[in-house]
Amino acid sequence: MKFGVYVLFENPEWMPPLRRELKRAEIHFEEWFINKGHFDLSDVPPEGVFLNRISPSSHTRDHTESINFTREMLIWLESNGRRVINGSHAFSLEISKVRQYQALREVGLRTPHTIVVSSDPDELKKAAISMPLPFLTKHNCGGKGLGIRLFHSLEEFDEHIGTSDYQKPVDSILLLQEYIESPDPYITRVEMVGEKFLYAINSNTSQGFELCPAEGCDTNNTTDELHENVEEKGRDRQNLFSLREDFFDPIIDKYKEYMRKFSVDIAGFEFIETSSGEKITYDVNGTTNYSPSVEERHGLNGMAAIAELISRELKAASQDTKNN
Ligand SMILES: Nc1ncnc2c1ncn2[C@@H]1O[C@H](COP(=O)(O)OP(=O)(O)O)[C@@H](O)[C@H]1O
Ligand SMILES: [Mg+2]
Repeated sequence: MKFGVYVLFENPEWMPPLRRELKRAEIHFEEWFINKGHFDLSDVPPEGVFLNRISPSSHTRDHTESINFTREMLIWLESNGRRVINGSHAFSLEISKVRQYQALREVGLRTPHTIVVSSDPDELKKAAISMPLPFLTKHNCGGKGLGIRLFHSLEEFDEHIGTSDYQKPVDSILLLQEYIESPDPYITRVEMVGEKFLYAINSNTSQGFELCPAEGCDTNNTTDELHENVEEKGRDRQNLFSLREDFFDPIIDKYKEYMRKFSVDIAGFEFIETSSGEKITYDVNGTTNYSPSVEERHGLNGMAAIAELISRELKAASQDTKNN
């Protein structure tokens, strides 16, 4: 077995751009599809570096065991001294917006006012009373806009949670959150790899809340619909993303501090800017899928930056192996 990178993944649709860049950089790689599985704690993991690309929305693709299984596997890998890019600490933030918000606050960043609720209907109704209107709901463990819904009245909210439209979050934690008004019809997403700022994009919000920049990300479709329409929808959706040019902002240093402090190697930070110019960060994504249209138009390549990071880590890990 050659020394290389092991990619932990659960969504095959997000693999081609990464595969392409790993091949181009001549990095030896193996793909580990993580959903169901087993490993022996007395076994030693293979030598090499690991890249964790497990998504908090894996359960929406019927990969219901991915998150729990990955969490345990990361501990086994790290306990055996393996370098995991976006390892156990980053993953504990990835699957919980509550932990992201606490961590963002610890480095002095503003997050939206949020109430954390165990998703029992009575508790939800009680919690909502103290939430200024309008507010939105979102899943603590999610992505792809899971559970995002805007409410203008308590009656509307109470009625919603009694219907089949209300989907219980996978970890049973629902967030009630301040709706941040912005004078602009877009949010900003800041892409970082290995503490380096890559670029920022704007995502147009006038058509709704689902904002994964990759082609083929769509929440509200059945699998069949997705396959039928994926190309067309992918193209339409790509128009929603544009480069935010000349973005040099002190918030970038704060994001770097966050990554250092909480051992996050790859992240896409999302913020909304208010009319007073305040930037409120509300989401941190570890499994970024870069927008192909933005990258093509501007000669950018996020996956190449990830391949470079892997290369560096492989060199360091092979040095460690030689020294031991
Ligand atoms: N507090 C908020 N105020 C206004 N819009 C929001 C807020 N939180 C989320 N949104 C909108 O919903 C989208 C998805 O929310 P986000 O927290 O990023 O969830 P996910 O993890 O599912 O991507 C955001 O990109 C933004 O357009
Ligand atoms: Mg988001």
